[in-house]
Amino acid sequence: MPLRIAIIGCGKIADAHVAQIGRIPGCKIVGACDREELMVRQLADRFQIDAEFTDADELLRRAKPDVVHITTPPRSHYPLARRCLEAGCHVYVEKPVTLHAAEAEELVAIAMRCQRQLTVGHDAQFSHAALLLRRLIDANTLGGPPVHMESHYGYDLGGVFGNALLGDKQHWVRSLPGKLLQNVISHGIAHISEHLVGDSVDVMARGFISPELERAGEDEIVDELRVLICDRNATTAYFTFSSRIRPHMHQFRIYGPKQGLILDEDQQTVIRLRGTRHKSFAHHFASPVQLAQQYLGNVLRNAGLFLRSDFHVDSGKKHLIERFYASLTGGPPPIPYREIVLSARIMDAIFAQVHDIPTGKAPEPAAMLGNR
Ligand SMILES: NC(=O)c1ccc[n+]([C@@H]2O[C@H](COP(=O)([O-])OP(=O)(O)OC[C@H]3O[C@@H](n4cnc5c(N)ncnc54)[C@H](O)[C@@H]3O)[C@@H](O)[C@H]2O)c1
Repeated sequence: MPLRIAIIGCGKIADAHVAQIGRIPGCKIVGACDREELMVRQLADRFQIDAEFTDADELLRRAKPDVVHITTPPRSHYPLARRCLEAGCHVYVEKPVTLHAAEAEELVAIAMRCQRQLTVGHDAQFSHAALLLRRLIDANTLGGPPVHMESHYGYDLGGVFGNALLGDKQHWVRSLPGKLLQNVISHGIAHISEHLVGDSVDVMARGFISPELERAGEDEIVDELRVLICDRNATTAYFTFSSRIRPHMHQFRIYGPKQGLILDEDQQTVIRLRGTRHKSFAHHFASPVQLAQQYLGNVLRNAGLFLRSDFHVDSGKKHLIERFYASLTGGPPPIPYREIVLSARIMDAIFAQVHDIPTGKAPEPAAMLGNR
């Protein structure tokens, strides 16, 4: 019997879900739903999905899915996920998991009560390179618990989505509590949450509207953000979100007591940073050569994946979906619930601080003290 999958929300990201589900054996998409009839029709036509719905309850009743992927805008994530879990379905909800951390906590509690699995679309943690990074960390490459992390998330406001957002004062992203940041920063924050200890952390955030956006007449989209995070073990992290810094990097650096590692999501590379120096002048020559060797190793690994047709932009989504489906027979969820909630709490703390400081003016010192 194939696993019965349904999709709610047939917009841009739904395509990637349907395409990746199609790469996983033993699955069948039994229904698609969008409150806009045209949207569900175009997805169903292009991917040969037989059952179309404009009402989520009807989809649940008639298509009887085992798993529902919720690919709607964030405001509907909580109510839809709740309905699906309570109807007995496992739920993959796109990021950001919910509007507020309290809703994320409730969803986790509902999933546990209903004995259904829940995951969130933090797929950047499951790209080929991110999985390699995790394997290296699990093998104690850092030489102990992480000391510090740096997560950098660049954003191109000149892209299709940026243009759509800036040109539309009614865009749904503007109605989110954290606006653009809420729709975009989850991937970069999730990299950090994975390695923090405990359920709550200190967060200090400073956000502002870039001078370029202000000059263009923008008065609510914060496109520059700097965050400092610290957990109870004194593991610290910097998070940077920027539309101005070039290149638009998506990088995660993690440093331990012995060595460091750099994950570059765009290049799909993982580089080890030696914790010790070569003697004297050798450091200036041997270190760059070793880095060059590592980059070459990454090129060869990526080329091998490419030749096996396993190197595509949405590999992370496929790996996350595969792991999620594998967990449905009783294994642990691919993203621990503690981590899902912690990411949501960090984001809440960021938005609470940033929205008091909507422009590029320096914040009062009190606003920099952060909150828990
Ligand atoms: N994982 C990623 O990298 C990634 C990338 C892009 C978007 N996303 C996330 O995916 C979600 C959707 O983004 P998008 O760009 O596809 O949005 P979109 O606006 O293109 O599509 C959303 C669709 O959902 C439908 N919809 C809204 N509310 C609904 C409801 N209650 N019931 C049924 N249908 C409903 C809309 O009619 C629309 O067709 C967002 O949360 C976004 O952050 C994730």
